[in-house]
Amino acid sequence: MRVVTVERTGEHEGRTVTVRGWLAARRSSGKLHFLQVRDGTGTIQCVMSKAEVAEAAFALADHLPQESSLEVTGVVRADPRAPIGYELGVTDLRVIHQSADYPITPKEHGVAFLLDHRHLWLRSSRQQAIMRVRAEVIRACREYFDGQGFLPFDAPILTPAACEGTTNLFAVPYFDETAYLTQSGQLYGEAGALAFGKVYVFGPTFRAEKSKTRRHLTEFWMIEPEMAFAGLDEDMDLAEDFLVHVVRRVREQRAAELRVLERDPAPLARVEKPFPRITYAEALDVLHGKGFALEWGADLGGDEETALSESFDRPVMVHRYPVESKAFYMKADPADPRCALCVDVLAPEGYGEVIGGGQREDDATMLEDKIRSHGLPLDAFGWYLDLRRYGSVPHAGFGMGIERCVAWLCGLHHVRETIPFARMLERLRP
Ligand code: 4AD
Ligand code: MG
Repeated sequence: MRVVTVERTGEHEGRTVTVRGWLAARRSSGKLHFLQVRDGTGTIQCVMSKAEVAEAAFALADHLPQESSLEVTGVVRADPRAPIGYELGVTDLRVIHQSADYPITPKEHGVAFLLDHRHLWLRSSRQQAIMRVRAEVIRACREYFDGQGFLPFDAPILTPAACEGTTNLFAVPYFDETAYLTQSGQLYGEAGALAFGKVYVFGPTFRAEKSKTRRHLTEFWMIEPEMAFAGLDEDMDLAEDFLVHVVRRVREQRAAELRVLERDPAPLARVEKPFPRITYAEALDVLHGKGFALEWGADLGGDEETALSESFDRPVMVHRYPVESKAFYMKADPADPRCALCVDVLAPEGYGEVIGGGQREDDATMLEDKIRSHGLPLDAFGWYLDLRRYGSVPHAGFGMGIERCVAWLCGLHHVRETIPFARMLERLRP
């Protein structure tokens, strides 16, 4: 028995192969059954002719319910009408498990129903396409940083203190004390950069986001490069080059998936260097022109980011936000200390922030003041201050949320479909 995956059946034209998968759909017309068999690598039409199979096998397919698991043997035939270019002329069928009353039917289901059935919804062609784009994004991220000499550097998930503000921490009992699920691997990434020069952290991050938006999850995955001897300009160069690489890879490798998702390819094709770089102050001017009444110092929320990103045909880098709106570790701009040496990269088509980062405060005294003024526990940051006491150097980095990036590349309305099992304010299950 020659078992092959659907995506590789074309390599066996004219030969007899066996495909293992699930029945995605079935259509019958008297002497013929058309079985759509999905195996995770693709879907192939298996044509069963009454004349060519044993009577029992033909009868088996008569009432076979959707999502039954199967082993189908047949001859690979070229078929220019088939999406994958081939079909299977069935010679034998084995049912591994007969399904019954599959809850997800071709009719429209509400998103709450689909999320409740996420363990099954993942079998749909759209969700399969999204998960493959996600895998490609992750692969491209690692490929980029590995290729640029960044060391993969895993940060802890259980941490003693906040990185991105104290309002959205998840607390976990940790023996006799309290630990927090990490909000970002950055602080540990900084230790890595001062030990190895260039590192990247990749892992899950957690934020108890109490707001329901289409951009926020409570558990999401972040890729965070950090480099020593670098400032904001080098950081922006890196973010730009990195993002171009990721988008190009997905366009090259996942074109078929993007077609399944009916993603307009034109905007992604425009993601080339250079990205426009504007200051926060310039961003306010753009927003004022669009009717937003914002004073200097105001944070840019989802609506503002959407409006801004719609003003450019490619990602835009907004740098030098007011220090007050940013985290404690940001270095102030020596040319204008009201501004932080930070950058947000906003994706086009209204997607908004996909990357946030900047240059870190590298002076121990200044940093200590910031930790105090943000009301953070100094004793938890002794090690972090050490990085400024023993060979401090200018250093910078950023974080990209994988789910935001996937939502943008797939053209999705909401990040909840970009991760196998989304965690949000009102969703902990399945
Ligand atoms: O801008 P943020 O909060 O930056 C940091 O965490 C830095 N410590 C990163 C660094 O410099 N190493 O988050 C970075 C990115 C955002 O741009 C966004 O893509 C994503 O993480 N993100 C979220 N994605 C989904 N759900 C959420 N609740 C997110 N919060 C941030
Ligand atoms: Mg941010």
